[in-house]
Amino acid sequence: MEKVVPFVPIILLGLLLHIFLRRRNKRDPHKRPELPPGSMGWPYIGETLQLYSQDPNVFFATKQRRYGEIFKTHILGCPCVMLASPEAARFVLVTRAHLFKPTYPKSKETLIGPSALFFHQGDYHVRLRKLVRGSLSPESIRNLVTDIEALAISALDSWAGSQVTNTFQEMKKLSFEVGILAIFGRLEASYREELKKNYTIVERGYNSLPTKLPGTPYKKALQARKRLNEILSDIIRERKEKKSTEKDLLGCFLNSKDDKGEIITEDQIADNLIGVLFAAQDTTASVMTWILKYLREYPKLLEAVKAEQKAIYLSNEEGNLPLTWAQTRQMPITYRVVLESLRMASIISFTFREAVDDVEYKGYLIPKGWKVMPLFRNIHHNTEFFSDPQKFDPSRFETALKPYTFMPFGSGVHTCPGNDLAKLEMLIMTHHLVTKFRWEVVGSQSGIQYSPFPVPLHGLPARFWRESTD
Ligand code: HEM
Ligand SMILES: *[C@@H]1O[C@H](CO)[C@@H](O)[C@H](O)[C@H]1NC(C)=O
Repeated sequence: MEKVVPFVPIILLGLLLHIFLRRRNKRDPHKRPELPPGSMGWPYIGETLQLYSQDPNVFFATKQRRYGEIFKTHILGCPCVMLASPEAARFVLVTRAHLFKPTYPKSKETLIGPSALFFHQGDYHVRLRKLVRGSLSPESIRNLVTDIEALAISALDSWAGSQVTNTFQEMKKLSFEVGILAIFGRLEASYREELKKNYTIVERGYNSLPTKLPGTPYKKALQARKRLNEILSDIIRERKEKKSTEKDLLGCFLNSKDDKGEIITEDQIADNLIGVLFAAQDTTASVMTWILKYLREYPKLLEAVKAEQKAIYLSNEEGNLPLTWAQTRQMPITYRVVLESLRMASIISFTFREAVDDVEYKGYLIPKGWKVMPLFRNIHHNTEFFSDPQKFDPSRFETALKPYTFMPFGSGVHTCPGNDLAKLEMLIMTHHLVTKFRWEVVGSQSGIQYSPFPVPLHGLPARFWRESTD
């Protein structure tokens, strides 16, 4: 007790000084903008412990309730401003995008490949992005419907039987194959296997401690990443020998020359191919897993989706004719289920940027070097934009939404270029799932795991059966 006493006057003095300075600040018409409200937690550890020791969504939602659309905090040793309104997200991602650069931990950047487009801003980013967007645009992916369909059918067939399937793990295999298809077209099976095995090792290192000590998952991942470059370089050499002019992503990269005749280097190509594969796999797989869960939980909805898809199935002579691109554009009920799953699960709950300069937003200062996080999930679960947000209700997408209230694929200069492909894959998978299969979830129905995207607990263990066709 005695030890505390000498501090009391100091604390009082500090408090008075604080109040005095704040007052003065308020009276000064030329005052510098203030930092947003919020608590910074303990220095360094900041609020990271709190963030990790509870559901991150509860963490953000509590903050938003207390402070409003913009607040400051400390995450992983970095001072950070979080933004929870459509307006603020638009400011950071769209209208002032040039003031906020992408930011990822160095260890992750090294593993994926530092030239991958999502780490960049400016001319290089614009150039690469145009190519990626082009090869993943509706005009390009409409040619992939039949191949994606074959992958979905073969995946579903392999799950049917009495064994318990880890839905998320299986969906990951499917989304990996679709990623490979978009990047390389029909790639030889031996290359696919080598890529998959080495990529799996990279992935394991991605969320582990970034230490280069031998034998650690991170070190092994770095080594596997090097082997991926060797495999890619073999594939590229073969293509060049054959002088093939495929329209897939690799083809686009290989054929690209900018106005100065500048090509894209092989390292840049490799980093971007691995980057796209990385961006495509877990994201799409987790949303597909959620779709299966929601459809089981809402039987009436499942019936409606089934009716819609059965009609298509019958018009295709019970699946003897392949699905067409036009048919995938005419699945309104299923499409709304996809959108509502994206909203409910909000698997990319937020993103990170870094302020490249002092920026003022609505009288608040976002200091240069601070991290900035638009909170997509908070916006998607705000009662102001989505009534009864915890309810799975696809009909909310029957009417137009307010701008920037629904951003499952982000917004602005870094918006997901793979969003059409992801949606196409989900529609095709759902078509075959509901027309030919029945499934049941095994064990406890609730719970979420973060891997690191939110996924139903244990990857949604389920049993699948082929439905008798009489
Ligand atoms: C349901 C599945 C998916 C979701 C929810 C999703 C979500 C997102 C989001 C939110 C961003 C923006 C991140 C930011 O602004 O910081 C993004 C970027 C990106 N996504 Fe996706 N994505 C999905 C599937 C895919 C697929 C299938 C591909 C490729 C085949 C892909 C490739 C990319 C790439 C390359 C970027 C970086 C774009 C840039 O920085 O310019 N994504 N994605
Ligand atoms: C990884 O890539 C190499 C080629 O660089 C290949 O020989 C090997 O089989 C692949 N798989 C694994 C698990 O390392």
